[in-house]
Amino acid sequence: MLIQNEAKTEPGDGRCPMSGVAAQFTPFDPPYLDDPYPFWARARTEEPVFYHPGLDYWIVTCYDDVKAVFADPASYSASIAQTPITPLAPEVLAMLQQGGVKTRQVMSNADPPVHTRVRKFTWQAFTPKRVAQLEPDIRRLVRRYLDAMEPAGEADIVRDMFYELPVLVLFLFLGLPEEDVGKVKVWSRNRLLLTWGNLTPERQLAEARGLIDYWHYTRQHVEGLVGDPPDNYVGDLLRVANANPQDLEVEEVVNVVYGLLIAGHETTTSMSANALSVLLGKPHLWDRLCREPALIPNAVDELLRYDSSVITWRRKTTRPVEIAGVAIPEGAKLLLSLCSGNRDPKQFADPDEVDLARDNAKTHLSFGFGIHYCLGAPLARLELKIILEELTQRLPALRLVEPQPRAFPPNTSFRGPAALRVRWR
Ligand code: HEM
Repeated sequence: MLIQNEAKTEPGDGRCPMSGVAAQFTPFDPPYLDDPYPFWARARTEEPVFYHPGLDYWIVTCYDDVKAVFADPASYSASIAQTPITPLAPEVLAMLQQGGVKTRQVMSNADPPVHTRVRKFTWQAFTPKRVAQLEPDIRRLVRRYLDAMEPAGEADIVRDMFYELPVLVLFLFLGLPEEDVGKVKVWSRNRLLLTWGNLTPERQLAEARGLIDYWHYTRQHVEGLVGDPPDNYVGDLLRVANANPQDLEVEEVVNVVYGLLIAGHETTTSMSANALSVLLGKPHLWDRLCREPALIPNAVDELLRYDSSVITWRRKTTRPVEIAGVAIPEGAKLLLSLCSGNRDPKQFADPDEVDLARDNAKTHLSFGFGIHYCLGAPLARLELKIILEELTQRLPALRLVEPQPRAFPPNTSFRGPAALRVRWR
């Protein structure tokens, strides 16, 4: 299958489509990008489910409703999870086709039975042992960055640590060489903006060039290992594909790795920055974590709840449905606000407060829910835990450089500051 756009759907119920809350939803622009939470609080109260004609999406904002959608894959297909939210220009689609980008729906945008079959093997290979084996490497990498940063007394910690660190961990997991980090980071940002952003046709063309290289890089890496699969995650999947191609095809493994090459680091880079920004924005939280490191595992989930790096995710109705009393037709596209659900007072007491010891922090929606629950959640949690352990231990005097403007990538789903200046002297 090639990358393609979705057909436009209209609610057709005669309402003025840009009334009320929809008119306030400007997902590609400030002030929403700087701080989306005031908008979501208003939406939950005034119009918990609304249609946005510009996006042609129905937006779902409350915890129970988002979770119920995730829990019902028969009524809500994941097929649009990776579709460009802003339709791609015809010349961009043609360029991707000529460039040989032939993605298949195997994981986040697949439905049963394909998803069930592929997920079984990708889950089995994601063993707790493989994740645990990464712990010393992650700690070593964090210390390497800290050693390089520390003498300066201050840093842009996104540039100097979080930008590269998660992709290096992922490369160890997938068996990719460290020298390719730079190009993979640029390609995945191309892909993020093409899929979840609102680029002009000219920008789409520029970003799409990177996507073609990205696809072939992934394909060549996986296909090059088929003859002698290594002892790592990709090798485990290829051994299944070599032994039983009816269970898993090599082409499906290529697609799984292509998915991991964005899901496995854009998310953790941004989440590390969000977590630190929240903690240092309220220094008493940081100081408490330095004094009580046993709180770190729960703090990781509370920070994922409070300011996640994946703020919305998508589904499509397979039949007419009703959500919170709103009738939605078959074939409608839904944008599920994970970050709004995570601040829903019906689920979380004082949701706009950070409570490092919150007892139900783990019930957040930041990793989704149900059959597509984030495959990399154990690795993401481990990375964040180690980063916080090492930083609190080594730099307890850490503070934000204030004031500093924040810039967030203009897109619907991925949130994290481009830079975060901190000092420890
Ligand atoms: C803070 C970090 C992360 C966040 C917030 C996050 C969030 C998400 C979300 C919201 C989904 C969709 C779930 C659904 O549809 O129900 C997802 C799926 C997925 N994530 Fe993550 N993720 C993170 C890190 C990672 C990492 C480190 C990896 C891999 C190394 C990863 C791999 C995946 C994969 C493969 C899927 C698709 C699973 C499926 O469809 O069965 N993620 N993630």
